[in-house]
Amino acid sequence: MKKSIIKSTGMFVPPNIITNHDLEKIIDTSDEWIQQRTGIEQRYWIDQDGATGASDLGFEASKIALKAADWTAQDIDFIIFATLSPDIMFPGSGCLLQAKLGLDSTPALDIRQQCTGFLYGLATADAYIKSGLANKILLVGGEVHSSGLDKTTRGRDITVIFGDGAGAVCIEGVETDEQAGVLSSALHADGNLAEALMTELPASRLPLRVPEGVPTDDARYYPVMDGPLIFKKALRMLPKVINESLEKAHISLDEIDLIIPHQANIRINQALGQFLKLDDNKVFHNIQKYGNTTAASIPMALHEAMEQNRIGASGDVVLFTGLGAGLTWGSVIYKFL
Ligand code: ACO
Repeated sequence: MKKSIIKSTGMFVPPNIITNHDLEKIIDTSDEWIQQRTGIEQRYWIDQDGATGASDLGFEASKIALKAADWTAQDIDFIIFATLSPDIMFPGSGCLLQAKLGLDSTPALDIRQQCTGFLYGLATADAYIKSGLANKILLVGGEVHSSGLDKTTRGRDITVIFGDGAGAVCIEGVETDEQAGVLSSALHADGNLAEALMTELPASRLPLRVPEGVPTDDARYYPVMDGPLIFKKALRMLPKVINESLEKAHISLDEIDLIIPHQANIRINQALGQFLKLDDNKVFHNIQKYGNTTAASIPMALHEAMEQNRIGASGDVVLFTGLGAGLTWGSVIYKFL
């Protein structure tokens, strides 16, 4: 039977490091508050010159993943791009990435699932491969948050969290009897809590998507978040969805070599590890360096975990999990071939 195998990974962040001290200069915050509440020390932002979008970061990450897989762009038969910050309102960043890769007919699908974009993307890639619809898939998570943040004290709870970046994986269908590839996925959403974390404008439900005369400092242009609610939801839903994915894969938590959670807040991930009674080294963190890069955070973390040999040997089992805007949450278990 065909299994969905991760052939390679790649990641890319733009060149500008923004430390917590840099943010202290523009908003009323402190390095101490940010580190204590989130674990973040710095993040990367694009040049604010209008020249870089999510697909550009995704393109750089894709080039690294393609080279490592020994694929050319022409080998790809399906592109999935997960982002909440598409380059433009439409068409999707997957189409823009496809053109940057020099392609002109390869199908490209955007996924708008925020922090769980990579989880939904991996489950979709697995379904496409197992159904025979595609065999070589480029899955990318890419975000440019910095151009959409409220860089005044009003937006400080969110602005300190987010960073720009992209991660890419090449996934191939491989015929094998081994237990390998995507073992299970459990995905959920609760649209009743959509307003707990959202950006309201531009909005198709309004007669004018960008209402006439709305000043650009209108709060509806910027993300708003009920942080404490999201925090509590993450700690309630993630253990449940992790168990659901373990049951579906017929394996126990002891058999998981590494958990790679979405990097939203180090306190959420440490509390999750404690709740599951896991050793600290079983939960991967890199939020200190990158902040929350949303759909890019899990593939970037996977790339670094593999570079550090924390995961990736034949037989290793990794569990990806996360919760974010939507609300959406999920867990995918993957075994290396
Ligand atoms: N610097 C200094 N003070 C701040 C800042 C800041 N950057 N942000 C908020 N504060 C203040 C608040 O104004 C508040 O002050 P008050 O007590 O005088 O009213 C105080 O700090 C505490 O605010 P809380 O929001 O209660 O702080 P909390 O401990 O909950 O931490 C945080 C906030 C970090 C946002 C936390 O709630 C969190 O991480 N939540 C989860 C976020 C998450 O996982 N999001 C999902 C992923 S993102 C996605 O899907 C796109």
